[in-house]
Amino acid sequence: MNRVYIKTYGCQMNERDSEAVAAMLRNRGYAIVDSEQSADVVLLNTCSVRDQAEQKAIGKAGYLAARKRRNPDLVIGVMGCMAQNRGAELLDRLPDLDLLAGTQKFHQVPDHLDNIMATLRGQGPRPATVVDLEAEKDSQNTIRDHLPPALNGKRQVSAYVSIMQGCNMACTFCIVPKTRGQERSRPIEDIVAEVESLAAGAVREVTLLGQIVTSYGRRDFPFRGGRSPFVQLLERVHDIPGIARIRFTSPHPRGFKDDLVRAFRELPKLCPCVHLPLQSGSDRILRVMNRPYTRETYLRIIDSLRNAVPDMYFSTDIIVGFPGETDDDFEQTCDMFARVRFDMAFVFKYSMRTGTPAAGMDGQLPPEVKEARNQKLLELLHEYSLARNRLLVGSVQEVLVEGPDKLGRRLAGKTAGNRLVHFSGHERLIGELVPVKIEHASASAMVGEVQ
Ligand code: SAH
Ligand code: F3S
Repeated sequence: MNRVYIKTYGCQMNERDSEAVAAMLRNRGYAIVDSEQSADVVLLNTCSVRDQAEQKAIGKAGYLAARKRRNPDLVIGVMGCMAQNRGAELLDRLPDLDLLAGTQKFHQVPDHLDNIMATLRGQGPRPATVVDLEAEKDSQNTIRDHLPPALNGKRQVSAYVSIMQGCNMACTFCIVPKTRGQERSRPIEDIVAEVESLAAGAVREVTLLGQIVTSYGRRDFPFRGGRSPFVQLLERVHDIPGIARIRFTSPHPRGFKDDLVRAFRELPKLCPCVHLPLQSGSDRILRVMNRPYTRETYLRIIDSLRNAVPDMYFSTDIIVGFPGETDDDFEQTCDMFARVRFDMAFVFKYSMRTGTPAAGMDGQLPPEVKEARNQKLLELLHEYSLARNRLLVGSVQEVLVEGPDKLGRRLAGKTAGNRLVHFSGHERLIGELVPVKIEHASASAMVGEVQ
């Protein structure tokens, strides 16, 4: 009666929140299983950023509800962004849910499950759905319980650390400020203590996570020596022995001031790899999106980072088919792609989110237009990504070995620039930084040999 399966949709924040729920449930004696079929409890941790992600989770919950009619003891919970976004209205569609827990309620899930399980064991009437969606003070500080370092028997080399929740920007397409709420940052000391304990458990790489990490602590903690709270946090994490690599996601272009650019030059553990969401290459569309930068200021940031670290890698987020986006606007986006030559990009077809300003805008575009623009950018991306990887053929790269590759035949790891490398080697290399000579390259990965 205590086997829990957690299915996660969406971003790394959701992955991290699911890990934390899993760790809390383990502490309460639940078993976390990796198959839905063998579970007594299925929790869906959901995403609302695009309609497709919501539809997937609703489809899955509907399928589980049908199973529940045959097996009334099955417990189904929906957590996270879609629970927050759609609220109790979801129950009209999915009356069989046992639990709806919002984005500030992950830490309450164990208590709710305990209560639901106790009622089920008491064989009483089926309890009403538990709905817990209110905002909660300091909930950002509750996402910290980590899985033990041995994850399913495998060593965990790289870990996500949540540093803040929420976003105060108002990009006109985005549902995140509604689902994740106002910005709330964890204290530096708490984050440092968490990273220290990860390092003690043999983690070598941390990725600091938040919806807008560059705004970390800007209301709560002072600037010091011209350094923002986010840069102060990077410096503190940099000082932790055992941690070899630091990454962060997602920043906002607005957050790349001199102090952050300087950090890339001065902190060797900070990976030379920046995710810089552009969204559109048209100044006109950027204005309508309420993104506070232009092509010119964006390119200036890219230049300053390349000046600090010449072989910097860049990735980005792009939305194609925003309302009113003309062929010319889209050409401007392609032009920015060519100027920056992004090494990686997430390209999204605009998805109308009810309640956001863009949903009410004129000029909504048909799916074929979005699809064609999407394809075009993916082709450009393939070209740039392949060219960048080919440049590395013949060079020796320092690779952090993460574990066996998907086929289990070789090892896989990443370069500092976040490029995937496969190579043969003994499992004891897992967790080590090893020099690998790159022999072949495709757009998505490289193959090499340990030196
Ligand atoms: N800074 C945040 C952004 C959240 S959404 C973070 O990374 O956590 C991630 C990406 O989804 C955005 O950068 C944007 O490119 C895309 N996105 C957000 N809303 C969208 C929408 N309505 N339609 C299509 N893509 C969207
Ligand atoms: Fe969304 Fe814009 Fe914030 S994309 S998460 S509102 S910076």
